[in-house]
Parts: sequence; C-alpha cells; structure tokens
Amino acid sequence: MRISVIGCGYVGLVTGTCLAEAGHQVICTDNDPERIAALKAGVVPIYEPHLDAIFAANLRSQKLSFTSNAAEAVRLGEVIFICVGTPPLENGEADLSAIDNVARLIATEACESKLVVEKSTVPAQTGQQLKRVLGVYRRNGGIEFHVASNPEFLREGTAVEDFLHPDRIVFGVEDETSENQLRKIYAPIMERRFRCPVHLSSCPATKPPALVVTTINSSELIKHASNSFLAMKISYANMIADLCEKVGGDIKEVTHAMGLDPRIGPRFLDAGLGFGGFCLPKDIQAFIRLAECSGADFSMLKEAERVNKRRIDLFLEKVRNALWVIKEKRVGILGLAFKANTDDIRFAPSLEVLRRLIAEGAHLRAYDQEAMDKTSALFPQVQFFREPYELVRDADALLILTEWPEFRDLDWARIHGMMCRPLVIDGRNMLEPRAMMQHGFEYFSFGQPEKSQPAQFVPAQLPALSTASAGA
Ligand code: UDX
Repeated sequence: MRISVIGCGYVGLVTGTCLAEAGHQVICTDNDPERIAALKAGVVPIYEPHLDAIFAANLRSQKLSFTSNAAEAVRLGEVIFICVGTPPLENGEADLSAIDNVARLIATEACESKLVVEKSTVPAQTGQQLKRVLGVYRRNGGIEFHVASNPEFLREGTAVEDFLHPDRIVFGVEDETSENQLRKIYAPIMERRFRCPVHLSSCPATKPPALVVTTINSSELIKHASNSFLAMKISYANMIADLCEKVGGDIKEVTHAMGLDPRIGPRFLDAGLGFGGFCLPKDIQAFIRLAECSGADFSMLKEAERVNKRRIDLFLEKVRNALWVIKEKRVGILGLAFKANTDDIRFAPSLEVLRRLIAEGAHLRAYDQEAMDKTSALFPQVQFFREPYELVRDADALLILTEWPEFRDLDWARIHGMMCRPLVIDGRNMLEPRAMMQHGFEYFSFGQPEKSQPAQFVPAQLPALSTASAGA
C-alpha cells in the first residue's frame, strides 16, 4: 500500500517507520525542513529503543522516504496518516490548527480519492470537522475523501514494540471501503508478518492484537478515555499513598494486593511524583474541556488532575522537612526525563522540582542517562554529571525524580560514605526503605514506612482469618 505520513514528530516517525517495516511504501513529510533534511540523512532526532535499526534498514531499502514537499507526499499516498501535534492551548483544549492546515493541504493538492486517517490524538467530533474542511476546500470535484480514526497507544521508550505488538488496534470508520483499506494496512501486524526488531530470536507467543472497528467518534473517545483512565489510576494510587503516610500503611503492599485482582490489574499503580510527559497531562485536560463544552460532568478527572499537580508540593514538603533550610544546600538529582527509557522532558515533574529548588537557592547537580542535554538547555545553572557517583560527593541530599532501573542497582553503601549527609528522598519509590535504613540512610518516599517510624512488627504470612472472626 502507498502510505503518506504527515508530521514527523514522535508518533509520525514511529508510525511511518513501523508501517514501512511491515512492508508498505511510506513517504513522510513535515513542515520543518531541517527535520526532513536530518531524516533524509539518516539521523533519527528522538531517542527510542529499536527505532534506529528499522529506520536505517527501511531508508536503505527505500520503503521509507522523506520529502519537504508536502504536496508531493499528499499526491503519492493512497492513504494519508495525519500525525501532527495537537498541543494544549492555554485553556487546556487541544490545538487543532495543524490538523486544519493539513486538511486544507490535502483538499487542494489531492488528484485522486484518498483515505485520510487521524493518528494524532484529537477530541471526539474532530473527524466530522476534518470531513467538512476536506469537502469545502476540495479543488478537484471528481475525487472523494474518506475519513477514519486510528488512535495510537504508543508509550515512549517502548513505542516500536507497542506498534508492532499492540494490545488492540482501533479503527473508527464511516464505511466498509475505509475499513478494508485499514485492515490491509495492519494485516502484516495482525498476522505477525514482519521482522521484529525487539524480539530478535522469536516474538513471545502472545494473543494476536484485538481489532476494534467502530465509529469515528467512538474511536476518538477511546484514546482520550484510555489515557485519562491511566492518569486516574496513577492519581488513585497517589491518593492512597498519602493515606498510608497518615495511618501507617505501605503503599507498595497495598497496590500489590489491589493489583492481584484482575479487575484492577497491577500496572499503573506506582505512586510517586505523578504522571508527566506529552500525553497524559494534555489528554486529561483536553478530555475535561471536551466534557465541559458538551455539558458532561468530569469532576472526577479534574480531581485526578488536581491530585497529580499536588505531588510536587508534597515532594518539596518532604525535602523542606528533611533539609529545614534549602538555601545553599548541595542537592543531587537522579533522573530528569518524565519517565525511564526516554530522553523526553516535556511536562516532566522534574522540571518543576528543579525550578522551585533553584528559586529557593539550592545548588543542584544532576544526572540522567538520556535527558541531560535537553535539560541543560533549560537550566544552565545546574551542574550535570556523566555518571551518578560523581554528583553524590559531599551532597546534603539526593533526590530521585525518574524511575530509571539503574538507580536500584547503584552501590548505596558506597554512596552512603560519599555524601555529606546520607539523606535520600525518593520521588519514585524506587528503593526499599528497609534496605536503605540498613545502609544507614535517612530515607523518605511516598506512602512507604520511613526511618523516623520505630521498627514495625512485620507480620509473617498470617494464616487466613475465617470470615466469622474477621467480621467480629
Ligand atoms: C502514555 C500512554 O501510556 C500511551 O498509551 C499513550 O499512547 C501515550 O501516553 P507515555 O506518555 O509514553 O504513554 O507514558 P506512560 O508510560 O504512560 O507514563 C506516563 C507518566 O506516568 C510518566 O510520567 C510515568 O512516570 C508516570 N507513571 C506511570 C506513574 O507515575 N505511575 C505509574 O504507575 C505509571
């Protein structure tokens, strides 16, 4: 199938490259000529595991190509995937101006009928507007535009795997022709007919992806509803963590037991500094705005957003309580990216923590295996170190802000001896309080037992209580 991808940001690059890997002829375009020049030269401007390999292979085989001539890209594709950004406006609504621009471009440049697919995250009813714009700006009366929605559920850090091994693929369509075209495009992924860059020997024998075919409106809602539910689940865990601190529980044990119930599930219950990144914060805002404009009460999501925003206040309260005075303190920062396995710092909780500690006069030293370049551009006053042990020397405190697995494997006994004061405030509950206590650290985190509490009796596996006595 000849496919055009408009927008070579994160979603467009992963989508275009993976569809080429699945055997399609893909041409990508973007309104940033420098980005296109870099891509043509084989430079992938984002850090995403496994992407480089399949990008290079498909560029070489010419299955994947790039052009800054958007009109050419429009004309070449039978199916056009719109992957432009929909960043938040001041009021939280999604900025759809790039979608509108692309729609007018397609309408004026297309010489044959096209299937136009929304891949960008958009609020419900965008497809209807897209169809209208394509109609009113259409230059060639003899052609037709079909519109469809095909939301992505890619997570940064695992996007290639998420695209090639999705849990589900969603088509929002208005007719059978569009549905069949999309089925043809995704057939190699549904039937695992691709060389998997993630599982070099053989892919795990998991169930094939579920295919959901629905209306465009429902498909658009599925994306926002899914991301908002994930955000709400994280805020719920954080709310429980706060209560654990008040009544003396252990959030990890609570969420572990909750997650054993398949109706709840173990994932996205990690308490800490809250959710960041370019998706969850803006999608929950856009969903709330859509509900407000439509007269639906989404106060539950507003609360989830408020709980999330307060994580930073609560974290800085822990820092202030431990340090008393923040001014002039040497504070080490482990982790800057909004989550592990990415260099992305957009809407990362770490940025607000840095901003506020600098404002209070702390001297910051930071380490992150991927996100330092992007952060140093924003915070020239922070000292960046190529490896974590360099920044702990004589530090008054160490703050963990991103859940990079490498922090668990650090030599904490060694760090204990290097710090001026062995104080760790773990914003991602990465470490084991008991182990940190045994190393002699003052250790604070979210919803876990803290050093200040007397050693608690840790019950051995209690025999199952009979319901009667439990009720008594
Ligand atoms: C998210 C969705 O997961 C993905 O399906 C969608 O397509 C795009 O948005 P992503 O933004 O890459 O993906 O990040 P995700 O892995 O969802 O993490 C989001 C944030 O939540 C991160 O800041 C992470 O640290 C935080 N998080 C995640 C928690 O605080 N606790 C958790 O249990 C899980």
